[in-house]
Amino acid sequence: MQLHLAGDGWQSPVWPHSFFLLVLLDQIPCCQPPTPAQGLCYTEAIRHNTRALGDSLLITGVSQLLTLGGRGPRRGSSLSNLDLIEDGALLVRDGLIAAVGTRGQVEGLPGARAAGKLDLGGRVALPGFVDSHTHLVHAASRAEEYELKIQGASYEEIARKGGGILNSVEKLRAATADELKKRALEALKQFAAHGTTTLEAKSGYGLDVANELKILKQHKELAAEQPLDIVSTFLGAHVVPQEFRKKADGAKRYMLLLEENLLPTVAEHQLAEFCDVFCDRGAFSAAESKRVLQAGRQWGLAPRMHAEQLSRTGATRLAILLRAASCDHLENINKSDIQALAKSETAATLLPGCDFHLGWKKYAPARALIDAGAIVALATDYNPGTSPTLSMPMILSLACAQLRMTPAEAIAAATINGAYALRRDKQVGSLEVGKQADIAVFEVADYREIPYYFGVNHCWMTIKRGRVIHAAKESRN
Ligand code: NIG
Ligand code: FE
Repeated sequence: MQLHLAGDGWQSPVWPHSFFLLVLLDQIPCCQPPTPAQGLCYTEAIRHNTRALGDSLLITGVSQLLTLGGRGPRRGSSLSNLDLIEDGALLVRDGLIAAVGTRGQVEGLPGARAAGKLDLGGRVALPGFVDSHTHLVHAASRAEEYELKIQGASYEEIARKGGGILNSVEKLRAATADELKKRALEALKQFAAHGTTTLEAKSGYGLDVANELKILKQHKELAAEQPLDIVSTFLGAHVVPQEFRKKADGAKRYMLLLEENLLPTVAEHQLAEFCDVFCDRGAFSAAESKRVLQAGRQWGLAPRMHAEQLSRTGATRLAILLRAASCDHLENINKSDIQALAKSETAATLLPGCDFHLGWKKYAPARALIDAGAIVALATDYNPGTSPTLSMPMILSLACAQLRMTPAEAIAAATINGAYALRRDKQVGSLEVGKQADIAVFEVADYREIPYYFGVNHCWMTIKRGRVIHAAKESRN
């Protein structure tokens, strides 16, 4: 029998108010917990009903439940603490976790008996990934540049010739809001299909008032029209746009536009929570970045940064000084930056998808950061120029193979520490009582197989606020 997902709740215009709490159809007897080895005995038909969010759900059949429980972000040796429960179970009420523990503990609770039942058949479950760095809204791929790069052109050479980010700006300005939304919605479905339940989204391919607003309004609309949580970031300081490069003092004039026009407009319409800057060679200097981030803060936007990707500019020190939520990339940091990050509250978000896609040999010094005690997070940096992937499992594979992180460290960096990097660690990133029931279920026998298998999606089910938003069509076993 097939797994049925009710209607297309994904596209429900009324999400999340009354649409589908998913429950097992004709619960039991055919729905006794199958093991992955029993394969297609996974026959639970799931249908939607219109019961209100007040309904509860008992989730059992979890061979390894990675709760990531514990206080605060993970540093040092605690990064590998997954707080794993064997034969785990969760009770979900109103989209939040009401109880977590072993099957025996949770099944016996008052409220568990009357709850809808979802048996995961012995699979592995963990908090939905929190992808804390994406450029979600863009108009098209840059596959033509990919080919040039393979033939020897560097990312910076292409950018100097008007390609790179400016290429994406040109494409975005020519695209309609509907076209952008269609592309982003398709991407969001794929994010969910790979286990992501919360993601950050940056502007930065508009670079004028109308087009930056076009992107940021999309963030808001997309957040309302589909189930994933989207955290919006203003990245007007991505690069200086083409029309300003032709002018005398173009960079200074664009800075004024950012400070006097773009930031106030974004703040007035409450379109972003964070302000980001690409502080690097060919983009914005540390001094310019400081001005933009301080102005952003005055408008209520918390700072975060693209730091030391192409060269060492002092961006990391600036991020720490400004108490930024996160500084991201970090391929070119030095030992003293590592020590400074280790003593700070700023997350060090690593984006190995960029180095992989660009064919770079130099990855960020993840081991040194972890061993020094920095708060290391992982994200996709989904974007058309340097990291066209939305797969967090692929990022975990790269983190293990290239950054030499253990599978446990990579999972913690992609969940609780990603949530911390977005200042969402009280709501998401771990499976603890009171937090959102955001769960990724993997068709694997052991959590280490999540990064071990690469290039194939083993995410079997994704649950957001207690509702199934993605289910694999068939069991792979
Ligand atoms: O995170 N480095 C700046 N921004 C993106 C790349 C954007 C692009 O090339 O379109 C990044 O790598
Ligand atoms: Fe980026």
